[in-house]
Amino acid sequence: MNICVIGAGYVGLTTAAVLSDCGHYIDCVDINHERIAMLKKGVVPIFEPGLEEIISKNIENNHLTFSTKVKEKIDENPIIFITVGTPSLEDGSPNLTYVKLVVDDIANSITSHKTIIIKSTVPPGTNEEIYNMFIEKDVDPELFDIVSNPEFLREGSAVKDMLEPDKVVVGIKRPEPVQVMQKIYQQIHAPYIVTSLTGAEMIKYASNAFLATKISFINEIARICDAYEVNVSDVALGLGTDPRIGPLFLRAGLGYGGSCFPKDLQGLTYAAKKKNIHPELITSVQNVNDMQIDIYLKKLKSAIPELKEKQVTVWGLSFKPDTDDTRYSASIRLIEKLLEEGATIHAYDPVVKLDHPEIICHSNAYEAVKQSDALIVATEWNEFKEINWLKVKESMDGNIVLDGRNIIDPRIVRHAGFHYLGVGQL
Ligand code: NAD
Ligand code: UGA
Repeated sequence: MNICVIGAGYVGLTTAAVLSDCGHYIDCVDINHERIAMLKKGVVPIFEPGLEEIISKNIENNHLTFSTKVKEKIDENPIIFITVGTPSLEDGSPNLTYVKLVVDDIANSITSHKTIIIKSTVPPGTNEEIYNMFIEKDVDPELFDIVSNPEFLREGSAVKDMLEPDKVVVGIKRPEPVQVMQKIYQQIHAPYIVTSLTGAEMIKYASNAFLATKISFINEIARICDAYEVNVSDVALGLGTDPRIGPLFLRAGLGYGGSCFPKDLQGLTYAAKKKNIHPELITSVQNVNDMQIDIYLKKLKSAIPELKEKQVTVWGLSFKPDTDDTRYSASIRLIEKLLEEGATIHAYDPVVKLDHPEIICHSNAYEAVKQSDALIVATEWNEFKEINWLKVKESMDGNIVLDGRNIIDPRIVRHAGFHYLGVGQL
């Protein structure tokens, strides 16, 4: 099938790579010239395990091309995936400008049938609005189909998640495009959830809200565990064995970050308020998350009351491991607060290299801790699970370790001479 994917970000590139690998012919377009120039050379501008190999292979066998000629590629392809960004605006609502610009481009030039598949995360009602944009421009309803096909991949495992999804959600206005979707995803085996356009949008928002709720729930439990000297990991294990609860997304830590959970919970709250619904639970989930860094900064200050002029090392800058994405990273938010307290920040991340005037970035974990007074593990990269703690202790001036992701064995660090602080972890 001939498919145009609009937007070459985390979702667009993964969609383009996977669908080209399934045998389709994909034109992936983006307005970012620098990004497309890199991709044409087979260089992937984001860190996503396995992506570069699939992209190189499919550029070579002519199943995947990259271009900045958005309008031209829209004209040439009968199937169009929209995967552009929908970042939060000041008021919490998602910025739909990028999606609507693309929709305008399609509606203004449409002469043959197009199946337009919206993968970008958009608030309830947006796909109906998109449908109406076509009607208002007098486009014949027989000439286009709008499909809401939200994406559930996680950064760091995007390729695997897209190849092996739990489900394919298809929101439609009429039944015909379901077969088109089944043909596109012929090699991807998953149950189909077919619903209305708005139903699909709600499934996506509700999924992210529920996952964020699990995280804030366990983080609140961790605070209580801290007070009662109980290990939250034991509690999570006990909770997770109940199949009604499940073991995933019960890792306590510095809170959730990334380009999606914070944005989508804000977006859902905004959408609810527009209809005079005040979502108490979802608001609390966000409040718990917003407070998490302050609570564990306070725990650090119980060990080092005065952070001014102290050397603090932070391991991990990305919002989660196996990605270079720092959008709404808990680590960066924590660093900003430490800088406000007057601390000098040394940082190391296996992938992210920050160009920040106030953060001294190092090229390895051991170098980053030299002469430091305290060390904070902010992202759970595997590398930090295999550290030689005696070597770290020899390099550091101080002995404080705040394990913001509960990935270190407290017995090992204590044995090396450290004062260990965890998140609901003894
Ligand atoms: P991103 O910021 O990485 O990429 C978006 C891309 O779209 C950018 O490269 C940008 O240049 C391009 N773009 C913007 N306007 C354009 C236009 N008019 N024409 C062509 N290209 C244009 O975004 P992302 O992380 O891939 O997210 C995309 C959407 O998917 C968002 O709505 C997000 O909520 C959703 N989503 C993201 C993830 C994730 O893990 N990142 C997972 C599921 C869903
Ligand atoms: C999340 C969802 O998991 C995807 O299904 C969804 O498609 C995506 O958002 C999206 O809509 O963009 P992602 O943000 O890539 O994916 O990463 P997650 O693995 O969900 O982690 C999000 C944040 O939660 C990270 O900061 C992570 O450290 C934190 N987290 C996760 C915890 O603090 N505890 C956990 O138990 C799990």
